[in-house]
Amino acid sequence: MQNNGSNNGSENGSRLPGFYKLSVEERRELLRHRADLSEQDLETLDGGGLDTAAADRIVENVVGIYALPLGLGLNFRVNGCDVLVPMAVEEPSVIAAASNAARMVREGGGFIAEADDPVMTAQIEIVDVADPEASVARLEAAADELLALAHDTLPRLRQRGGGAREIEVRAHPRRVVVHVHVDCRNAMGANMVNTVAEALAARVAELAGGRSGLRILTNLCDRRCVRVKARVPVGVLGTAELDGAVVRDGIVAASLFAEDDPYRAATHNKGIMNGVDAVVIATGNDWRGVEAGAHAFAATSGRYRPLAIWRAEEGDLVGELEMPMALGTVGGTLQAHAGARLAQKLLGAADASTLGMIVASAGLASNLAALRALAGEGIQRGHMALHRRATSPSGHPVVGDPS
Ligand code: MEV
Repeated sequence: MQNNGSNNGSENGSRLPGFYKLSVEERRELLRHRADLSEQDLETLDGGGLDTAAADRIVENVVGIYALPLGLGLNFRVNGCDVLVPMAVEEPSVIAAASNAARMVREGGGFIAEADDPVMTAQIEIVDVADPEASVARLEAAADELLALAHDTLPRLRQRGGGAREIEVRAHPRRVVVHVHVDCRNAMGANMVNTVAEALAARVAELAGGRSGLRILTNLCDRRCVRVKARVPVGVLGTAELDGAVVRDGIVAASLFAEDDPYRAATHNKGIMNGVDAVVIATGNDWRGVEAGAHAFAATSGRYRPLAIWRAEEGDLVGELEMPMALGTVGGTLQAHAGARLAQKLLGAADASTLGMIVASAGLASNLAALRALAGEGIQRGHMALHRRATSPSGHPVVGDPS
């Protein structure tokens, strides 16, 4: 298990009671001290970190900038380290709810997370294979040669301790597919594995005795999963109307519903992605890739399943989430986007695996908050209160203190 390496620091570095009551200016001032922000960082918070000229260098046909609110998920403790979690999201209540759930998880010791090595997978498809069985045997026998070829295409990655790790050959009825598993270190890795796929395709086709088809990464990066666990003492789960044990049992029942029914699992997972995407977007990462990986992973058993499940253990509520997590703490978007750089500075995540564990914790917190609301008062009451706030120029939250 890896430590999260956060530099948010102190014992209670993510506890900011009453934060929601402050003005935006007061919150920034507090953050400036807490997270050692510069004047330039504060300007970035105002402008969003991207001007039109920079946007014009990133994508095509630019006519402007599209903005999202950026808030802080509070109370998060991941692997014993406090962390302030930047969340970019347009949906009211997501940040308050995640912060509230993180406070409950904190009472049980915080999120405990682990991450696989940052391995992405290139797919090389070979079609028109005359003898698939012989083709698989030849490709497997040439694994060392193919690994060496892959290494040669990524010399700088090797210097950083990454590189091609394994060749895997998969036979389909109409094609042979070669997977090249590449440890991408702190990069998301799409460009690297696509480069590897293209560099190896001709030799792979020759060995297979076929014609090379598609050469591209898979977003089902199931060798790059994160797992996070949360224990919530039953005493902190209760609401004004319901006893903690009733809420716990309601959350377990909601988990079982999602495990039994893909229609419910989709919504359950949407609640997880509320937290996941908000941090993925704030940190300048490819949320479409994370989404694609999450839902493909949820369906690998042949039936679409929840990414997180909840059970009662020794009276407590215990939740576990597992999902692929392809993120980078280096790369193109970060160079171009000061807002994404600032979000990563706030997180203090030393590497992509640590970032993934924090993102998954935000996902599990969002799931817990949604299920607790559903098992108790229902989602509309809490949600609608924050919707009303969104339409009131000076409004403060009307539901439970999210700090
Ligand atoms: C709304 O954004 C997310 C929920 O629908 C998730 C869930 O039902 O678990 C509340």
